[in-house]
Amino acid sequence: MSDPGPGPGSAGAGGSSAIDPRLLPDTAAVGDDGGLVVGGCSVAEVAAEHGTPVFVYDEAHLRARCREAVAAFGRDRVIYATKAFLCRAMAELAHDEGLLLDVASGGELHVAMAAGVPASACTLHGNNKSVAELRQAIGAGVRHVVVDSFDEIERIEAVVAEGAGPAPDVLARITPGVSAHTHEYISTGQDDSKFGFNLGNGDAERAVEAVRRSSAMRLVGVHCHIGSNVFDASSFARAAEVMARFAVPLDLPELVLGGGLGVAYVEGEEAPTIATWGSVLLDACDSLGVRSRVSVEPGRAIVAAAALTVYTVGTIKEIPGVRTYVSVDGGMSDNPRPVLYGSGYEAFLPRSVRAERGLTARLVGKHCESGDVLAFGARLPSEVAVGDLLAMPVTGAYGHSMGSNYNKIARPPVVFCADGDARVVVRRETFDDLLATDVFDPR
Ligand SMILES: Cc1ncc(COP(=O)(O)O)c(C=O)c1O
Repeated sequence: MSDPGPGPGSAGAGGSSAIDPRLLPDTAAVGDDGGLVVGGCSVAEVAAEHGTPVFVYDEAHLRARCREAVAAFGRDRVIYATKAFLCRAMAELAHDEGLLLDVASGGELHVAMAAGVPASACTLHGNNKSVAELRQAIGAGVRHVVVDSFDEIERIEAVVAEGAGPAPDVLARITPGVSAHTHEYISTGQDDSKFGFNLGNGDAERAVEAVRRSSAMRLVGVHCHIGSNVFDASSFARAAEVMARFAVPLDLPELVLGGGLGVAYVEGEEAPTIATWGSVLLDACDSLGVRSRVSVEPGRAIVAAAALTVYTVGTIKEIPGVRTYVSVDGGMSDNPRPVLYGSGYEAFLPRSVRAERGLTARLVGKHCESGDVLAFGARLPSEVAVGDLLAMPVTGAYGHSMGSNYNKIARPPVVFCADGDARVVVRRETFDDLLATDVFDPR
């Protein structure tokens, strides 16, 4: 077995180079047969045993990113954003590595707690938390509730008044007026946002006063999150500066600066490392005299590059003078980011990791939508054939978690690979699962 090298494709973006090994999980290697190995497991064997599509995660990679984050920020200062990818095994792994969990719904809290993560290690988020979610979280004793609106302040007061639980420790989510350079749908720090209390119009100060006045909650800090998949470290520095100026006079124990660190999805992209992100944020806070504990909430940076989705090619349609379509057995129901944000992914054949990719094709799924695209201009080896396994790297974040059952397609399984062992942590859905919530009275 060897490293997947050669290094970044010599042909450059748009050329015919092999897949860039930097886009593959940490333990990715090439087996003696030229095929991809992850966590000591042959990807072809995992696909043969569990079928396709399948999400294959490198467990060592997940643990390494958790450790990198803890090294950068400190234990109990990294809050894994479970929306990026959540199942009980992932919740357990993150908790085991010393991370706290950010849950943005009652469902995410339920899954985290079902993995044995105590509520006291979970922070509840959400711009429109329901009364039921607040009851559930406050009753369970979550570590923090991140208060997002004036309506929510009233809802928490009502929930505490009815005796759901003791007054929770809360953070006020502040919208700092800093635009992250990312897709509009995942940009959250600008004034025009559904999230949080705007700093610019005085809502942030009014919210802090309202929470401080309330006997139903205890203000322990402030929070911001400027957006997701942010590559520009200066956006983080600006947000940290704005938040530090707001937070220092409040003299509260906690300052949470959100998640958002970007990852490279396609050849040529470069994202700051977790360590660089840590220095940018912590230096900005230090230089402005922040004495609060500074925490962050990474999701994507922990899990994205840890996984590949493995599909089987089912049809290849060449339209002379137009384009070639390569269709696989999943699509927008398992990796919806290209449809949602026009995001890019790379693809390659796991049987031939080092193969040059001379064919440019549109990689599409099997759903009844022309927009069901996985990669708009995928480079693939020209020998790609029906029946081939095809892998899409960097699909560990916002793929499985944003999946759907569109066209009543059963969701794929998730397999964690480590030390030569492939363990199923989410099984493939069955057709009966599709009927599990379907209430039907034959007449
Ligand atoms: C409040 C909050 N924190 C953290 C995150 C995680 O962001 P990322 O996965 O980009 O690190 C999100 C993502 O939307 C978020 O809304």
